[in-house]
Amino acid sequence: MDIKTDKNVNTEILSEVLNGLNQNPKMLPSKYLYDERGSQLFDEICELEEYYPTRTEMQIMQDNIIEIGELLGEGTLLIELGSGSSQKIKLLLDHIPGLAGYIPIDISSEHLLNSCKVLQEEYPDLNIFPLAADYTNSFSLPKLEIKYDHKAIYFPGSTIGNFTKKKAKEFINRIANIAGENGGLIIGVDLKKDKKILEDAYNDRKGITAEFNLNILNHLNDEINSDFDLVNFKHYAFFNEVEDRIEMHLISKKDQTVKIGDSSVEINNGEHIITEYSYKYTLEEFKELVSVHFELKKYWTDANNLFSIQYFKVKI
Ligand code: AVI
Repeated sequence: MDIKTDKNVNTEILSEVLNGLNQNPKMLPSKYLYDERGSQLFDEICELEEYYPTRTEMQIMQDNIIEIGELLGEGTLLIELGSGSSQKIKLLLDHIPGLAGYIPIDISSEHLLNSCKVLQEEYPDLNIFPLAADYTNSFSLPKLEIKYDHKAIYFPGSTIGNFTKKKAKEFINRIANIAGENGGLIIGVDLKKDKKILEDAYNDRKGITAEFNLNILNHLNDEINSDFDLVNFKHYAFFNEVEDRIEMHLISKKDQTVKIGDSSVEINNGEHIITEYSYKYTLEEFKELVSVHFELKKYWTDANNLFSIQYFKVKI
């Protein structure tokens, strides 16, 4: 068991956090929103009335799954980025004719192996090759001893929206290389829309998103021996129309000194710490973002144009 003591501070996280808090405006890396509690809270967000992306994406998938499966086509090696519990993938697994194999990629190896065990029981003939990796950085696929015709990368949930445009382009470049010749990309992208709908989705009435945002401080307290007091911060999320993104911030309710490992950071009353960006795209803007490497083949949206699923092929 990994027992944390005062001395057991993760130095890599510590330097990232200190670096972020020394910027103006202050920032914290959004990946630290997700510890065990953060992931639970995110699952709750996905069920909220105001948070339309998850259910809308699922509905688009269900409504178009036959066409999507056929487009991905015979002999696909399906690669899922951020596979989690591998539940939602079943729709695709059931509808890709002659599926060659499935590579679920997730950062948590324990979670990955458990969910693959369960999936293999349900799909005894499916070739599953789990890969524990941080797909937001460079990674390579394991050597496979199966035949397949082409690879297709599945990246749902509009997680691409949490990357800055620069990072998104670097990421797209990497996954185009992974997908390779004749490779496909099926990606969920949240669309630009009425500001009120967007802001409500990140300011739910039950306060779950606020709890999710504040939890980043608890997570850091556990990891780097900081002493953020959650009662001294409040959640703030708004749509930045100039940058086309939802921004989640934590606002300090008072002048305070926070201990971060052996250092300390001064935070003024009313000062903001940025914790997450969630970019929203038009169909045109997204096509343009990936255009160096991918060609759009088909997209699907819901009746209200809230969300999109887009299918691309690697450009030769
Ligand atoms: C994971 N990601 C796509 C979510 C989003 O909408 O940007 C994370 C989230 N943050 C607050 N609510 C949900």
